[in-house]
Amino acid sequence: MTGPAIEIEGLTKDYPVGFWLAKKKRSLDNLTMQVERGEVFGFLGPNGAGKTTTLKLLVGLIFPTAGTARILGQPVSDVGMHREIGYLPEQPYFYDYLTAYEVLDYFARFHDLTAAERRARVEGLLKKVGLETAGKIQLRKYSKGMLQRVGLAQAIVHNPQVVILDEPMSGLDPVGRREVRDIILELKRDGRTVLFSTHILSDAEMLCDRVGVIAGGTLRGVGAPGEIVGLKAKGMEILFELAGGSGGAAIAAQATQTGNRYRIQVPEEELFGALEQLRGAGARILAVAQVKATLEDYFLELVGAEGAQGAAVEVSGR
Ligand SMILES: Nc1ncnc2c1ncn2[C@@H]1O[C@H](COP(=O)(O)OP(=O)(O)O)[C@@H](O)[C@H]1O
Ligand SMILES: [Mg+2]
Repeated sequence: MTGPAIEIEGLTKDYPVGFWLAKKKRSLDNLTMQVERGEVFGFLGPNGAGKTTTLKLLVGLIFPTAGTARILGQPVSDVGMHREIGYLPEQPYFYDYLTAYEVLDYFARFHDLTAAERRARVEGLLKKVGLETAGKIQLRKYSKGMLQRVGLAQAIVHNPQVVILDEPMSGLDPVGRREVRDIILELKRDGRTVLFSTHILSDAEMLCDRVGVIAGGTLRGVGAPGEIVGLKAKGMEILFELAGGSGGAAIAAQATQTGNRYRIQVPEEELFGALEQLRGAGARILAVAQVKATLEDYFLELVGAEGAQGAAVEVSGR
């Protein structure tokens, strides 16, 4: 089969709010995007942006006000195709007194497997998420990172082609986040498609083939982290030294000083002018480098400071 793994077209969701639920709040507004097969796609946005709403629509937990979504060519309203989807909710809950083995065995029972297949599957999963030695320990003794790994294992218990993860790294320490990243990369190596939401930009930057930025219910931009970041060099940085007594260079007044070293950023078109001035002031140039924008710069530019506060659009009186 060919075609994108996930195709979303004009997807819109209004939640009823207020007294008598008479008002509607638009939490997702006309979302159109695609996730390619075998891709790791990061869905980035501040709190309240509409990420969870989108993922829930994709897994059929809620229904759209308008628009359509297809996964592997099938409409998400077709329950049969959910066999091909794995889902990790934002706050997975497991019964504390079960072991990881028991939880995964429980979920494996929903799928057509013999007892021997189930056992092999569960053991394989525990190994995959690095819990093979902890599989027989009750979940109440697990750390947050270990629980998240149980959640990931549960999401892929049936070997789905498309894996949808809602904030899989949130609440984890750097080690836990690294472990989750490794599992996602392994899913990619296995040829799976992974769509995950996050508000942690550095994780997305390290993992994703492409990212989509969403805020206030609308998609603001899509692209590969490298492309996005390379789009706009933020200018040039010059590192220079001024010998004592050679002061008076106007340019030094605008530079950041550390000892007798100075650092200044100028727009690319002003680079040669600045170097000329520095030469005139008797400065020694130590380095000239391009300052690259980060994913964070891109994100803030799209989302804006107010968007980062993350209020959804109100659609009142409808
Ligand atoms: N069941 C609901 N009823 C009313 N409003 C909701 C509901 N679920 C989410 N919202 C609102 O929709 C907006 C988007 O929420 P959500 O999709 O959870 O954002 P994110 O996952 O990006 O933080 C938020 O303003 C949130 O308050
Ligand atoms: Mg969310």
